[in-house]
Amino acid sequence: MSFKEVKDKNIALVTGATGGLGTAMCQKLLDDGYFVVANYRNEDTAARWHEKNLELGYDCAMVKGDVTSFDEVGEMVRSIKEKYGPVAVLINNAGITRDTPIWKMQLNQWQEVINTNLNSAFYCVRHVIEDMIAKGFGRIINISSVNGQRGQFGQTNYSAAKAGMHGFTKSLAMEVAKKGITVNTISPGYIATDMVMAVREEVRNKIVEQIPMGRLGGTEEIAHLVSFLASEKSAYITGANYAINGGQHVY
Ligand code: CAA
Repeated sequence: MSFKEVKDKNIALVTGATGGLGTAMCQKLLDDGYFVVANYRNEDTAARWHEKNLELGYDCAMVKGDVTSFDEVGEMVRSIKEKYGPVAVLINNAGITRDTPIWKMQLNQWQEVINTNLNSAFYCVRHVIEDMIAKGFGRIINISSVNGQRGQFGQTNYSAAKAGMHGFTKSLAMEVAKKGITVNTISPGYIATDMVMAVREEVRNKIVEQIPMGRLGGTEEIAHLVSFLASEKSAYITGANYAINGGQHVY
């Protein structure tokens, strides 16, 4: 792709791209015609992921960066800008779990989850926002969780981070509303990803029994909403939180 072609396209950065949700988002955004930059942390996983996607006809630019480091994110965003141009669409998708009841939770399990799932959103936004303001256009989509809305046994760390993410969305949406930038949250329920499949089978089955639709969600079901919120058609939607959870939590 020539430099001009790259410049003419809207650049979408997806953090934690090599996970189940990230993969579906990257593929959908490529289908939509974005220039997609896939953020990753682990070289080997990323190389395998990139190869597999190329075989399927999906070509993302790959960028390494630990989203728990303010400085590393800054470096990553600068390198994207130099190589391709400023980020127009940011999907804060990177997330981890360290599930355990509070009486067993270690400090590192709390900190890792808050850093990866919540602080990362500030770090990424802080480094892309000035270019979005200068351009007068931006789309920020924060991937939260049903468990940030309703709580979940074993997830005080995760629920706190995911609920915090939506608070961040609301304030940020107000601050940048006049700048052509929208900021929204998506709160997926239990989606068929490695993260959900890592929950012990009998525990997971009990959770699925409580989902009115009686099934896990598909990654593409989240990606379609990302695609809509990233588009120009969603211009009047900001500060919103979209639940996609099969009816598991209605309010
Ligand atoms: N409500 C009330 N009590 C519960 C409970 C619940 N939902 N779940 C477990 N307990 C109780 C158990 O009955 C047990 O009580 P007793 O000791 O009196 O028998 C006690 O808590 C310990 O339960 P476990 O044996 O399950 O404890 P554990 O330490 O082996 O496992 C856990 C704890 C890892 C948190 C496990 O319960 C678990 O995996 N829970 C599911 C967590 C979950 O849903 N994670 C989502 C991951 S995917 C994701 O996060 C994506 C997304 O956004 C949706």
